[in-house]
Amino acid sequence: MPFYAALHSESGAAREFLLQAAGQAIQCPEMTSTRLPNSLDTFWMPFTPNKAFKADPRLVTRAEGMFYYTPDNRAVLDGTSGLWCVAAGHNQPKIVEAIRKAAGELDYAGSFNMGHPSAFEFANRLSDIVPEGMDRIFFVNSGSESVDTALKIALAYQVARGKPGKYRLIGRERAYHGVNFGGMSVGGITRNRMNFGPMVGGVDHLPHTHDITRNAFTRGQPKHGAEYADALERLIQLHDASTIAAVIVEPVAGSTGVLVPPHGYLQRLRELCTKHDILLIFDEVITGFGRLGAPFGAQYFDVKPDLITMAKAINNATVPMGAVAAKREIYDAVLSGSQTPIELFHGYTMSAHPLACAAGLATLDVFKEQRLFERAAELARYWENALHSLRDARHVIDIRNLGLIGGIEMEPRPGKPTARALEAFRACFDAGLLVRVTGDIIALSPPLIVEKTHIDHMVETIRGVLQRID
Ligand SMILES: Cc1ncc(COP(=O)(O)O)c(C=O)c1O
Repeated sequence: MPFYAALHSESGAAREFLLQAAGQAIQCPEMTSTRLPNSLDTFWMPFTPNKAFKADPRLVTRAEGMFYYTPDNRAVLDGTSGLWCVAAGHNQPKIVEAIRKAAGELDYAGSFNMGHPSAFEFANRLSDIVPEGMDRIFFVNSGSESVDTALKIALAYQVARGKPGKYRLIGRERAYHGVNFGGMSVGGITRNRMNFGPMVGGVDHLPHTHDITRNAFTRGQPKHGAEYADALERLIQLHDASTIAAVIVEPVAGSTGVLVPPHGYLQRLRELCTKHDILLIFDEVITGFGRLGAPFGAQYFDVKPDLITMAKAINNATVPMGAVAAKREIYDAVLSGSQTPIELFHGYTMSAHPLACAAGLATLDVFKEQRLFERAAELARYWENALHSLRDARHVIDIRNLGLIGGIEMEPRPGKPTARALEAFRACFDAGLLVRVTGDIIALSPPLIVEKTHIDHMVETIRGVLQRID
C-alpha cells in the first residue's frame, strides 16, 4: 500500500504521527541521494522468500532516530531496532561522526601479531560493563562468529587444563545461535539444521522452556518451568559430566519468538554447571547492551556465566562486529596451558576492525550520556502494560515481555503455519510500522530511545492490522 493510502487507513492520531515523521524526512537534503537499483535479481537475500520479496519489494533508503524512510519518503516506525541491533536509534550523529573520522585515519589494521589503539581501548571499555572478572574480550564480526568463538574457547580451555575428554556441547531446543556450524549445531531450529548434514559431533540439547498451557499472558518471567533446567541432570547421567565442556543458552530466546526464562531457571542451570564443572555460556547477542535494562542479561538475572557472546548493538550495528567476554581464569588457563607460542589458533582478518572499534567506543559514550543501559528498565512497566492491552485483540493467544522485548503470539491459520504472521508483517509495514515475525509470533524490540508515543503507535497499529487480516 503506498504511503498516502496507509495514511487514509489510519486513525486520526496515527495519521498525525506518520505525517509528522514524514515531514521531518522532507526537510532532510540527503533523502533524494539514494539511487534505486535497476534490478533486484542478483542479490540472493538471506532468510528471505526471495521470489515473493522481489515480486513485492520493501526498500528503505534512509533512517533516522526511530524511523526508516522508504524511497517515496514514507516513514516506517522501527519496532525492532533493525534486527534487534540499532539500540541507540538510527544514524546516531556521534557514532556516524566517529566512523567518518576513523575511516580517514586508519582504514584497516589487522590484529594478528600487531594492533591499533582503539582495539585495546574498546576492550578496556567493554571490560567496565561486563560482569566483574569477565574482562578478557575476543573480537569477531557477527553474532554467529561470537558463538562459534565461544564454543571453541570452551573446548580450548578444557584441553588447556588437561581435560580434553570434556568436549560435548549442550544447546537447547528452539535456540538460535546464528548460522555457522557450531551455532547451528547447538541451535534448536529444525529448518536451520535439516539441510546441512550431520552437524558438529558431540552435541546434545536441553528442552526449551516455552509452556503456553501454564504460562500464557505472563507479565515478565513465567512462574512455571524452572524444572526444565533439571534436564541437564539427565544429560549428565547419559553422557557423564567428564565429557561435557559447556552449556550454551540465550538468557531470553529472541529469534524463536521471545521465550522468557521461567523464574529460577537460569539460576538452576548455573548451579548444575558449577556442580558438574561445566562452563555456562550466555548468548547475549540480543540481550546485551541494555535490552533488559542492564548492560547484559547476566546482570539483569544476577546469574554469572563463564563466557558471554555479544554482537548487534555492540556498536549500534553500524559496522559488523561481535565479541566474546571470557572470565579471566579461562584466558589465564588457555595462556598458561598452551604448548605453542600462539595460545589460541583462532581469529578473523576483520577482528577488531578500526571502524568497528571507533563505532563501539562512540556507542558506549552515547549509552552513557543518554542513560540507555537504564532506559529499558524505566520503560519496562509502560511497555508491558501497552503490550498486554492487546490481550483481547483478534488472533492473539499469548503475550510475553521483558525489558524492552515483546512477543505477541497468534493462533496459526489451520494448515498454514506462519501465513498469518507474514501477512501481519506486510500489513504493519504498509501501515508504517516495522515488526519482526517468527513462526506465528510478532516480536518487538524497539530502539532504546523509544518514547511512550511510539509505543502507543506500535500497539494501535498492530491492533488495527490484527483486526483487518484473517
Ligand atoms: C542469540 C543470537 N545469537 C546469534 C545470532 C547470530 O548473529 P548474526 O546474525 O550477527 O550472525 C543471533 C541473531 O539474531 C542471535 O539472536
